[in-house]
Amino acid sequence: MDGLEYAARLSGVTRVYGTASGPGSLHALGPVDLDLRLGEFFSVVGPSGCGKSTLLDVLAGLNPPSAGNAEFEGKPIRGVPDGIGVVFQEDASFPWLTVAANVAFGLRENGTDKAEIRRRVDYAIGFMGLTQFRDAYPAQLSGGMRQRVCIARTLVLQPRMILLDEPFGALDQQTRLLMGDELLRLWRETGATVLLITHSLDEAVMLSDRVGVMSARPGQFIDVIETGWPKDRDSRIVAAPRFGALNGRIWEKLRAETMKHMQTQGVAGP
Ligand SMILES: Nc1ncnc2c1ncn2[C@@H]1O[C@H](COP(=O)(O)OP(=O)(O)OP(=O)(O)O)[C@@H](O)[C@H]1O
Ligand SMILES: [Mg+2]
Repeated sequence: MDGLEYAARLSGVTRVYGTASGPGSLHALGPVDLDLRLGEFFSVVGPSGCGKSTLLDVLAGLNPPSAGNAEFEGKPIRGVPDGIGVVFQEDASFPWLTVAANVAFGLRENGTDKAEIRRRVDYAIGFMGLTQFRDAYPAQLSGGMRQRVCIARTLVLQPRMILLDEPFGALDQQTRLLMGDELLRLWRETGATVLLITHSLDEAVMLSDRVGVMSARPGQFIDVIETGWPKDRDSRIVAAPRFGALNGRIWEKLRAETMKHMQTQGVAGP
């Protein structure tokens, strides 16, 4: 995009949910200001229930803000914008479809022609290392591979911004680190702007250019930390001397907020 500095911008974004059981409302998010730089990898961490998924849904056009402005590529977000791909938490593959059919799903829905579907599906399946499994069903795959299917399904749509909501939550630590490497490779190759929501501080620090730390609900950014990592990083960066310091700074902010969350939920503190 010529002259565009930011992929997405939120200013004063607030989300208040009405309650189904009578009067009352729940202030879930904000006000939040966020400028996502074009092509950056931005992670969001914050206490459970602080409004992270709500924030992602606002950017994805799935949840309209109650107040404030949300823009993608300089235009107000109304409905699901073209150019944004979403990967939802854990495994959202369709069990009744093969890997190839899962990956082709979005393109078939939007009427892309058959040859183009084939070309893009082959590329995405190859990129995610699933070529051998193109005719397998999700039940025949490991959790990490199923999550790769979900990422491939987004990749075929050639999004300019990719939003991921705790995509690796169900995976073991080693698989998570390797999936993180896949995600970095995908980010470099596509040049897309990435917003990742994660509960793992290691993951946030390892993958991101910037990490946004949210307060307890209603979530607001209480800190945004620049990691300063090189673009060609991978999971080995966890051994870098600065890694622990960055992690410590985020945890310091988050610890107080998490304790607040536990108190409001009536959970005993540590
Ligand atoms: N559709 C909805 N209607 C009413 N309340 C909602 C709705 N979606 C979320 N909430 C509430 O808004 C608050 C924020 O929810 P959200 O899912 O955005 O948090 P989160 O930070 O993603 O949490 P987690 O870390 O557990 O995934 C919570 O209190 C939740 O119960
Ligand atoms: Mg969530």
